[in-house]
Amino acid sequence: MNQIIETIKDRRSIRRYLPEQVKEEELNTILEAGIYAPSGHNDQPWYFTVIQSKEVIEDLNVKTKQLMEKAKTDWIVKMAQNEKYHVFYNAPTVVIVSGKKNNNKELPYCPMADCSAAAQNILLAAKSIGVASCWVGLTSFIFEEQEEVKKLNIPVEYEPLFAITLGYSAVTKDLKAFERKNNAINYIR
Ligand SMILES: Cc1cc2nc3c(=O)[nH]c(=O)nc-3n(C[C@H](O)[C@H](O)[C@H](O)COP(=O)(O)O)c2cc1C
Repeated sequence: MNQIIETIKDRRSIRRYLPEQVKEEELNTILEAGIYAPSGHNDQPWYFTVIQSKEVIEDLNVKTKQLMEKAKTDWIVKMAQNEKYHVFYNAPTVVIVSGKKNNNKELPYCPMADCSAAAQNILLAAKSIGVASCWVGLTSFIFEEQEEVKKLNIPVEYEPLFAITLGYSAVTKDLKAFERKNNAINYIR
């Protein structure tokens, strides 16, 4: 099978990591793949914050879980109450993906879509060179706390959208892809 198709189909969200840090050269390759994503109006409205400080990652984990415990949604509260749950699964690298604010102006045209395209490039590039990853959207809880966001030194014209964990997988069993819904395609010919 074509290598790209194989990478797309074999990528899984990985939720157990080895403590070893991602090699700098691999990290650069992965981030470069992110900035090669397509973007509406070629706005390239992304900004990546690479966190490799254990203390900072742990602080974000603890505070996000505290906020999740106060959520209105049952499954989120239950997740937060699980002692074993770590928002970033103890990955050694966490990339915060921020998008340029559009403040109801015309541009950037669609930062969330652009940043999601960048994120998918990151996940696939990582997979293709043996680095495991997981898209983490539950960081939205901490991103609502302006005082916490300030600590991340994200330029004021950007807002954090989600995070991606990176590291080497500690999962030993073969993770099968979830079954795909088969009613997601319609042809009009
Ligand atoms: C927008 C978005 C947010 C996500 N947030 C989380 C998250 O906070 N925590 C988590 O463990 N996985 C998260 N995931 C990963 C999904 O759970 C995962 O992609 C899905 O279950 C399919 O599994 P797969 O990635 O192995 O194919 C997120 C994925 C997306 C696209």
